Amino acid sequence: PLPRPYAVPLPVPPVLAPTRSDGTADVYEIVQRTARLRILPGLETNAWTYGGTFPGPTLDSRSGRRTVVRHRNELPHPTVVHLHGGHTPAGSDGYPTALIVPRGGAGSGTGTGTGGATSSADDMAGMAGMTGMAGMTGTATTQDHTPTSRTYTYPMEQRAATLWYHDHRMGFTGPNVWHGLAGFHLVHDDEEEALPLPRGDRDIPLMIADRAFEADGSFRYPALDAAQHTPGVTDPYMDGVLGDVILVNGAPWPVLETRRLRYRLRLLNASNARRYRLALDPPPPGGGALVQIGGDGGLLEHPLAHDTLDIAPAERFDVVVDFSRYRPGTRVRLVNRLGSGGTAEVMRFDVSAAAQPPADDSRIPHRLSTIPAPRPERAVATRTFHFQRRAGSTGWTINGRAYEPGSPLATVRLGTTERWRFVTDFHHPVHLHLDHFQVLARNGRSPGPYDAGWKDTVDLRPAESVEIITRFTDYPGRFMLHCHNLEHEDMAMMADFVTE
Ligand code: C2O
Ligand code: CU
Repeated sequence: PLPRPYAVPLPVPPVLAPTRSDGTADVYEIVQRTARLRILPGLETNAWTYGGTFPGPTLDSRSGRRTVVRHRNELPHPTVVHLHGGHTPAGSDGYPTALIVPRGGAGSGTGTGTGGATSSADDMAGMAGMTGMAGMTGTATTQDHTPTSRTYTYPMEQRAATLWYHDHRMGFTGPNVWHGLAGFHLVHDDEEEALPLPRGDRDIPLMIADRAFEADGSFRYPALDAAQHTPGVTDPYMDGVLGDVILVNGAPWPVLETRRLRYRLRLLNASNARRYRLALDPPPPGGGALVQIGGDGGLLEHPLAHDTLDIAPAERFDVVVDFSRYRPGTRVRLVNRLGSGGTAEVMRFDVSAAAQPPADDSRIPHRLSTIPAPRPERAVATRTFHFQRRAGSTGWTINGRAYEPGSPLATVRLGTTERWRFVTDFHHPVHLHLDHFQVLARNGRSPGPYDAGWKDTVDLRPAESVEIITRFTDYPGRFMLHCHNLEHEDMAMMADFVTE
């Protein structure tokens, strides 16, 4: 009994207020806890949430201002938080074994005593964040001090962009995100704010995620082990877990009433494994409905008009849609051309019936930003990573290896540029932590229509190769390279790389 599409209004996640701020930093607190959500009519869904909502609260950061987020885990199992797209020191990047264990230490033998001790270590890390003593947070990650809370410090030395935060626990990212552990984290800067783009209530983050439900309203996820001792999913789901209900900001097929004005929509595919080919139906006269202004790593150099937009798990596309191109009263569906039945529908925009459109103070400038041209000749190394199913067994590999924490596939020097080639067997959205990259080539030819600008996730179809170029900057330590199909990730399609 699926819910009826286009029956509920689009929710917009609440913006989290800092608990304190000083001249250089904003400090936030998030409690990870179970919550009973109303997603389906007449039923409750038990979710794992950041602060009681799904999506979690949106964090708004200012480029160059440190953001300190203290997470406390009151869920029944360990978690890890990663800021996806964040240019983050290793100690706060959410290494997949750097757990936040719930009080009582489920699954790790940690007693309440340890919890107490680490709370104070954690407070110190929070203070370190405020006073600029970089590295203190790292002390909370040592194995003797498995904390019930953890303070993540984000320097935010990065440009404006649509980032998101989500769980990253080794082996269990798929079920944790599926049950609700995901939220937006937006970065703003002067360059972007100087542009006349739609803002305020016409700048809307849209988290698109498919989910499946049991008859009682609970999330249906085919975990091998619901108690989270053994990672992975049952065999038919090796290629990833798909749902038959499309949620946008946690609501099934919602509706947004729009004025006949330009809107900025920050599209995020937070699905575990589903890709979408998004389009507006009907398209506006003349086409080019989805004007892309930004990608994973912020503004493009110039806007790029698309009729359809392919979005893989974890990718973001910032688009501007001008609803004044539609007649008053038009109902415009955001559809998914890769889906069928319910999964071919995403949400609907009900354009105001007022005959006279209000004056629009927004515009899309032809020049949005400056993106330095890639300099492949500067690359000091070229490396190839093969993303493949493990021969003769279950699981996924990179260069023939299943993920092993602490055993990196690459060691790179900070300040240097490298070319990395990704080669696939099956469909894999490949994601790199620490620094954004540019796509140099796809299958030996020019990048595709969705490869523009700074990216942190690049989608590869079966038997494709993509070459990217990136410069590793600022932070030494262990970072991740992985497939963002979360079931592939949990089944070991992940690798460390080390910067030094
Ligand atoms: Cu969105 Cu390593 O993750
Ligand atoms: Cu994959």
